[in-house]
This record gives sequence, C-alpha cells and structure tokens, in this order.
Amino acid sequence: MDYKQYIAERLNVADVSAEEIYTAIALPPNSEMGDYALPCFKFAKVLRKSPVAIAEDLKNSFVCDGVISEVSAVNGYLNFKINKIGLAAATLKNVLSAGENYGSAQIGKGKTICIDYSSVNVAKPFHIGHLSTTVIGGALYKLFKYLGYNVVGINHLGDYGTQFGKLICAYKKWGDKDEVQKGGIHAINDLYVRFNNEATAEMESEAREYFRLIESGDKEANELFEWFKSLTLEYVKTIYEKLNITFDSYAGERFYTDKMQPVIDELKAKNLLKESEGAQIVDLDEYGMPPCLILRSDGASLYATRDLAAAVYRKNTYDFYKCLYVVAYQQNLHFKQFFKVLELMGKDWAKDMVHVAYGMVSLEDGAMSTRKGKVVWLEDVIARCEEKAYAIIDEKNKDLENKREIATTVGVGAVIFGALYNNKIKDITFSYDKVLSFEGETSVYVQYTCARANSVLLKSGVKETLPENYLPNAQESEVVKLIATFPDAVKEAAEKYEPSVVARYAVDLAQKFNKFYIDCKIITAEGETKDFRLALTRAALQTMKNALSLLGIGIPEKM
Ligand code: ARG
Repeated sequence: MDYKQYIAERLNVADVSAEEIYTAIALPPNSEMGDYALPCFKFAKVLRKSPVAIAEDLKNSFVCDGVISEVSAVNGYLNFKINKIGLAAATLKNVLSAGENYGSAQIGKGKTICIDYSSVNVAKPFHIGHLSTTVIGGALYKLFKYLGYNVVGINHLGDYGTQFGKLICAYKKWGDKDEVQKGGIHAINDLYVRFNNEATAEMESEAREYFRLIESGDKEANELFEWFKSLTLEYVKTIYEKLNITFDSYAGERFYTDKMQPVIDELKAKNLLKESEGAQIVDLDEYGMPPCLILRSDGASLYATRDLAAAVYRKNTYDFYKCLYVVAYQQNLHFKQFFKVLELMGKDWAKDMVHVAYGMVSLEDGAMSTRKGKVVWLEDVIARCEEKAYAIIDEKNKDLENKREIATTVGVGAVIFGALYNNKIKDITFSYDKVLSFEGETSVYVQYTCARANSVLLKSGVKETLPENYLPNAQESEVVKLIATFPDAVKEAAEKYEPSVVARYAVDLAQKFNKFYIDCKIITAEGETKDFRLALTRAALQTMKNALSLLGIGIPEKM
C-alpha cells in the first residue's frame, strides 16, 4: 500500500494538487515523530498563511482511520503515524495468503507489450555485452506479466547480411561437417573469424555469390545457413535456460525479407524517400539527425529497413500497447531515427515505441578484456561465477548437501543481479568478487538472508498463526512497512523500465530483516510475540523470494 498516496488523497489543501502533496510527503528523520511527515513551508506563499497555521488547520480537518492512527502538527510539519497494529495484521495476512502472487496485479489486463531483447547474432559470440539486454529484458518480461499484461518476448535475431555468404565460403574451404556439428557456435564463429583474417579477393567475391544464393532461395546455401542458425540457437538456448529467460518469438531480421517492400512503397507514396548518392534515404535534417538509410545504392536493405518492417509487422500482429527495445545506448541514434520515420509515415503508434537503453558492461579482470582482441563469452562468465560460488560455499559449509546445485543458483544469480542492481543506463564494471560477496548489495546476500529465514521456520517446526492485535516493535515495524510497499516497487520498476528498483528493494528488505533477526529473538520468544515473529519471518522470506524470482533468480533452501 502506498501510504503517501493514501495521505495525499485525504488532505485538502486549496490550490495545491494531490500530486504536489504526494511528492512533498517525506519520512521524518526520527520515527518517534511519525512515519510520514508533510512539511508545510512550501505552501505558505500560495495559502498566505504561516506553515505553523497551515499544519494546525490540516491537522484539525484530517480524519484518522484504521490506516492512519494519529496526526500531529509540530513546528510547521504535519506528522502522521500509521496504524501499526492494523498494518501489520493486514500486510502479513495479505502476503501469507497470496504467497508467490504477492505483489502481482491486473493493471495490464487487455494490454500487450512487445519486448525485443537479447537479439543475438547468428554465428557470432554470445558475449558479456549481451548480458544486460538479456537480463534486463528478461526481468521486464516477468514484471509486466506479473502486472497482468500480455507480454511477447521477441529475439530479433541477427540473421541477415553478407556475413553469411562469408561463413558458407569459409565452411566450404576449411570446414568439416562433424567438427562443426560438434563444435557448434564456437566452430562456426572460428570459421567466420578465419575468413575475416585470411580471405583473398577471390574468396570475397565467392562470399558475395553465396549471399546472393541464400537470398535467391538456393537449396544448398539455405540448408547451410539454416544449419548455422540452428547451431547458434541450440547454444544460446542453453544459456537462456540457465538465466531463466524465455521468448515467444525468434523472428529475426531475415523474417522481414519479404515485408520490407510494402514499407518502402509506403515511404515512396508518402514522399518521404529521397535519392542521395544513389541510395534511398529519409531526410531527417530538419530534426537534427543524419538521414535514415533505407536502401543502399546497390539496392540492398539496411538494419533500419528491417526494423521498420518489423515494427509494422508487430503492430499488425500483436496490436501492442508498447513496443520495447532493450538495446545498448550505442544505438540511441538508430532508434531515434527509425521512430521518427514511423512518425513521419503517420503511424500514430510511433509514440508507443520505447528504446530501453542501457550502459556498457566491462570486466574488472583486464586479462579478459575485449580490447585485447579476446571476446569474453557469457558462458565463461557464468561458469566462473558458479565455480567461485562453489568454492565459497564449500568453505563456509562443507557438509551442505547439493553443493553443486546451490552453487549454480548462487553463481547464476550473481551474474544476473550484478547486471541488474545499478540504474540501467550506467556503465558498469563487472567484478567477480563484488557480485559474490556475502556482505555487499548482492543477490548472494539476499539468498543467504532467505536461507537464514528458512532455517528459523524449519527449526520452529510449528505452523504459525498470525495474531490479530499485535503491536510491532520498531524493528518489526520497519520490516512490515517495507513488505507493504513491495507491490509499489514492482509497479515502479515496470513503469520506469528499471528492474534495479526491485533489485534494490530486495537488498533493502534483506537488510531490514537482518536487523530484526539480530535484535529480536524469534524461536525463543513466547506467545503472541513468537507467533508474530514467525509469521513476519515467513512473509519476509516470501517477499524476498518473489522479488528475486521476478529477476530470474532462485533461492536455495539452505546455504
Ligand atoms: N542484433 C543487434 C545487435 O547485436 C541487436 C538488435 C536489437 N533489436 C532491434 N530490433 N534492432 O546489435
């Protein structure tokens, strides 16, 4: 429940909107004073009254209820105390009955959101640079579903272009069927790299011919291409499975081969196409952007051409409410241009296109940096995290059962969380030690806290009952208040396309829970106190679990 909103809606201040009041409401420095406070200084000018008088008047007109139990006016501040007993009982009851659905909502009912994410390239490495798009997209997918939207996850495969002619040429020259079948994406990527290093002019022209053959529907060329594509997909799917990522469509760039012409015709008919040095462009000079290239002088289509066709296709097929593109900020200009072209074409839905841009991920470990010519495969980053997680767990708790399985959950979680914890637009440096720290702001810390909560519940061995009229102490109250705001965190994360809101929430709740756990005895408490604390423990565990699961991260029972 959003208390600020609850309060804002019940305060009537002439000439001040509920929204303004909402943003002005803050947490008082000291929770003895109240749980929320409204400083009235801001309104003195509009109301032509002193802040003290404003606070006093507002206090007199505010009606307390089961949610807000007390209002006081102190030195120009209006302080609110929430009904802790009511809040605690209602919140815990809510979480315990909703279980894994706690925090979900139906606000998206009837609306479809397309999310274009991960979008890997056939025969190219699935590298650390794809981590953010994959996990941010994956989290948004889950968040919107949780809010009742119909979500379509799209992997806009990079499967179009002259590079596939090169690949066929390299395979014909150096490849071996069994080796490629066995080596999968690594083998075809090696062939491609070798082509780029060693190709002669003659091979380049052969490659162009192979590309033409793919395009013209030649059987053998297409079979080879499909084989390379299936090897790539087989491989990336193993990683998606690890990261708990799903797609509803793998319609890649090639899928739009026959869907570009109608768009080009439309551009022509609307007088938007212009010739420039033999190429066909849409002039965007007026909007302070370089032209959007539609057809090269040799008639070949471009990345933007296929994106235009894909956008029209998605609108026609899914009738989306929003269409998101989770792509690095390096492509800012591309998206601005292609959204603008849609707008110029008169598509009123151009406003529903959203580029969800994110920053770069680099590795702390310089020896593995891309600049030295070595690409870091995501697979290796995950494997290394799992290994390190295993070593840590083994050292902490040698006799733990299923150490391997737990290390996987912890290691994979650390990779995901490491990429999600910061505001997405920030460039981040991925550090193995940092993401696997038990003490930092990490998934490991949250998972460990969950294991702790779980062990309390196991030890208690009783099915807890929730007391109705329990007045929580300060630590308990902090946990309750935070649990009560989880649904707001989920909504905020989705609205801002910012899974970090939920990641931060999870760490915050783990910290508050740990404070409660350390300060208050649980199992050795008695009567209602014990009942309440056990219920609180279960509710906190459930909420942390729900938060991590929205990010694609699991929770081991023991650690
Ligand atoms: N495959 C592209 C890349 O690796 C990303 C595609 C993003 N999606 C899109 N519809 N343009 O850069």
